[in-house]
Amino acid sequence: MRNRSVLAFIALAVVTFAQAAGAEVDREKLLKEPGVYATFAVFKVGDQWSQMDKETRANSVADVKKVFQKHADKIAVDTYLLRGLSERADFFLRVHSKEMLDNQNFLVDFMGTTFGKSLKNTDSFNGITKALNYVPKFPEDLKAELKTPPPQGSPYVVVVPVRKDADWWLMPQEARTTLMKEHTDATVLYLKTVKRKLYHSSGLDDLDFITYFETAKLDDFNNLVTALLQVKENHHNKRFGEPTLLGTIRPLDEILEILSR
Ligand code: HEM
Repeated sequence: MRNRSVLAFIALAVVTFAQAAGAEVDREKLLKEPGVYATFAVFKVGDQWSQMDKETRANSVADVKKVFQKHADKIAVDTYLLRGLSERADFFLRVHSKEMLDNQNFLVDFMGTTFGKSLKNTDSFNGITKALNYVPKFPEDLKAELKTPPPQGSPYVVVVPVRKDADWWLMPQEARTTLMKEHTDATVLYLKTVKRKLYHSSGLDDLDFITYFETAKLDDFNNLVTALLQVKENHHNKRFGEPTLLGTIRPLDEILEILSR
């Protein structure tokens, strides 16, 4: 009995210490597991930002970094530069956590900084990661191909929001599996050069999916999408992109520096 209370005390001390030390959320786990909420928040920097004096901007950049640190125990944030490749927006954040509320709390704090107040939030997409729907019914050789390790350290990101039509959702699961097998057959050539992640958005947004890709080979990505536009499943894509986000994966510091020039 005594041992048990000692163990409980130690466990509590470890948790308290980790919280006090500002332990960071397990990013790898959040990026792998089902049941994780993601928010893509896309921003354009307003003119008032460049009109502020250097010191105000430097102080605000420091505040932005503090907001990232403050929420680091609950959320994992990835940062991407769009400026130069998009007229619509300058950068976007991909936020993951176990509770949509944590994504919101972080973004509210971020948008409350002086930098945040100068931004226009051009788009937001919300989704959740889920267990695979169709792959478990695929033939073993295709399942084995899908285990090809994805590329690491790619410079480019592409995000494509997708909405399916009513016929897609009204189709029996087996028929959808057949079409998704055809989709997947068209993609295997690109497994080595394109890393992907799928988010389900039905009911959480005006979308059904947020599709996310990282690659060093945009030519491959272009060929991949062209191949997918030629499979039957494409008849059911009511919305594909609009907007498509093409950017580069860059650390927060670099993005803040570029946007402060
Ligand atoms: C290397 C490239 C790709 C591979 C290997 C791939 C493979 C797959 C697989 C295996 C699934 C089924 C997941 C499951 O079992 O639930 C899937 C779903 C999906 N893929 Fe792809 N895909 C690729 C690229 C793309 C691209 C470029 C797009 C569109 C821009 C796309 C859009 C989708 C969508 C919307 C779904 C969800 C369909 C649904 O659940 O109804 N995929 N993909």
